[in-house]
Amino acid sequence: MDIREAIIARHSVRNYKEDPIPGDLAGKLEELIRRCNEESGLHIQLILEDPECFDTLLAHYGAFANVKNYLALVGPKDLPDLEEKAGYYGQKLVLEAQMLGLNTCWVGGTYKKGKCKADKEAGDKIVCVIAIGYGQDQGKPHRSKPLKKHCRLSPEEMPAWFRNGLKAARLAPTAVNQQKFTVELDGDEAVIKAGRGILAKVDLGIVKYNFEAASGHKCR
Ligand SMILES: Cc1cc2nc3c(=O)[nH]c(=O)nc-3n(C[C@H](O)[C@H](O)[C@H](O)COP(=O)(O)O)c2cc1C
Repeated sequence: MDIREAIIARHSVRNYKEDPIPGDLAGKLEELIRRCNEESGLHIQLILEDPECFDTLLAHYGAFANVKNYLALVGPKDLPDLEEKAGYYGQKLVLEAQMLGLNTCWVGGTYKKGKCKADKEAGDKIVCVIAIGYGQDQGKPHRSKPLKKHCRLSPEEMPAWFRNGLKAARLAPTAVNQQKFTVELDGDEAVIKAGRGILAKVDLGIVKYNFEAASGHKCR
């Protein structure tokens, strides 16, 4: 599976099998996390075999079952664009996990923050977590907003790379499936902006990563 296929195949999965994440896959994720942290200044961590973080009524109410592994998206409170970076690098890990045959779900609210086992340095905060493991199913596609809610251009007016990027952006996970982002073309550059909404800056980073991964073009 390549990254474009991973973008299409990825859906939120909330119910997991007992199977642990094998050591070699965990090792690959750890290596990618190390590189993401080095590049971004984040302190992302992979927590394995810890059911407590999702052992809460809120998580069960939110349909989570058997979540034992998660990525904790931790970073210094004063890191510029902390939320957007957490979104961008978190989504990089989500798509890598998908290519490794794992499933994921971004989680901003329905988990027990106080039980999250991530190490926090002074001044760190947990932005979000991402449940990860072998899903009971592969999830299902979300309802996408009409294209015109995101972009003023019609598909015929878009260069092929921009069209590919926009398609991937619309497949990105967003908090409560809000999809509050716009993508415009400025010269030969894509400009992606967040609308108002909960965790909209995290969504922005996620959407930017999907766009760049599918289009091969850096966006602003
Ligand atoms: C930043 C963020 C926070 C999220 N928080 C939660 C959450 O607390 N609980 C939950 O069940 N789903 C959560 N989700 C998952 C979204 O509901 C889901 O991504 C959206 O409905 C689109 O579905 P899809 O991921 O299957 O494409 C979150 C997603 C994002 C991007």
